Amino acid sequence: MQRTRCSFTALFNDIHLPHNCLTTVNPDDTDLTADICGIKVRAPLYINAITGGALSSESVNRRLAMLAKKYALPMAVGSQAAGLKHPGLAFTYRVARKYNPQGVLIANLPAAASLQQARSAVAMLDAQILQLFLNPAQELVMAEGDPLEEGLLDNIAAVCAGISVPVIIKEVGFGIDARAARSLAAAGVSAIDVGGRGGTNFAWIEGRRNPSSWWKPFTSWGLPTPVCVADVVYNGPGIQVLASGGVDDGLRALKCLCLGAAAVGTAGGILRQLRKGFAQADRYLEDYLRQLRVGMALLGVKTLPELAAVPLAVTGRFRELIEQRGIDPLIYAQRGN
Ligand SMILES: Cc1cc2nc3c(=O)[nH]c(=O)nc-3n(C[C@H](O)[C@H](O)[C@H](O)COP(=O)(O)O)c2cc1C
Repeated sequence: MQRTRCSFTALFNDIHLPHNCLTTVNPDDTDLTADICGIKVRAPLYINAITGGALSSESVNRRLAMLAKKYALPMAVGSQAAGLKHPGLAFTYRVARKYNPQGVLIANLPAAASLQQARSAVAMLDAQILQLFLNPAQELVMAEGDPLEEGLLDNIAAVCAGISVPVIIKEVGFGIDARAARSLAAAGVSAIDVGGRGGTNFAWIEGRRNPSSWWKPFTSWGLPTPVCVADVVYNGPGIQVLASGGVDDGLRALKCLCLGAAAVGTAGGILRQLRKGFAQADRYLEDYLRQLRVGMALLGVKTLPELAAVPLAVTGRFRELIEQRGIDPLIYAQRGN
């Protein structure tokens, strides 16, 4: 059994969307047009960073690029560190541009990457956006993880100041809260992808490769995705918030959008389907976007900005956790009145 997920995914069940029995909006009338870092996109969904740098990555990125093109979705490649170190592997990333020449592509590097590396990664793909990822929990659980280095925020600031494309900062599944988001905004990032807990679990993935089991308690480490979104939207620096980490279907996506995310990302969800075959991954994205449209229709909402006024009931653990971050649950319940 592949246990890359965890029970905090259930926090999505603590967010209740209000059914509108008088809706006259049909799914095909909904407008999914979104904005990611100032770039207009046809849907508030992107394929998040997964792979690159191994020979087998070429086929994964090729098929993801074909799907990204078909559904007009932005797509991030996996960390380009290997492609910069070994230029002979650059084709495993470039395939994403080859198969989607007009698409929105997102370059990807660790947040400790230098400005020169960041420029090269963007140039490798002719990318419109750069993602820098934070993954301290992954590194510390990994048997051969890199030590954490001082000066991370200064490095992010140097990259943001010197690069010609907007920078998204992301976590890989342990979450970004409002306090960290304020520091990251001050460093100059354009958007925060909270990359919260509830989906792919790198403590589990990396931990299993350790000879001992000291890491096991850390499989429940991290901040759940919906809590991060609420916290960064309400207590954060006022920059764009993106949601990933277990946002595996269109209804979860809708809940994140109602909490204030501008768009959502999927990595583990699409990858699990792609492993079953291209047709399954294709169907997954078709269903995902359909779920989003039907959900909006049943809320009586045609456009994404209207979601900010949809009243939400929030209960259980999600409610407790946001209250502890100073968010009054009634701000969700009473809005749109
Ligand atoms: C197989 C795999 C490889 C990944 N590699 C990267 C990577 O190279 N760079 C990165 O920023 N995130 C990477 N991620 C993290 C995802 O982009 C995403 O942040 C995380 O998996 C949470 O989203 P999910 O629950 O939809 O999977 C990877 C995820 C998976 C499943």
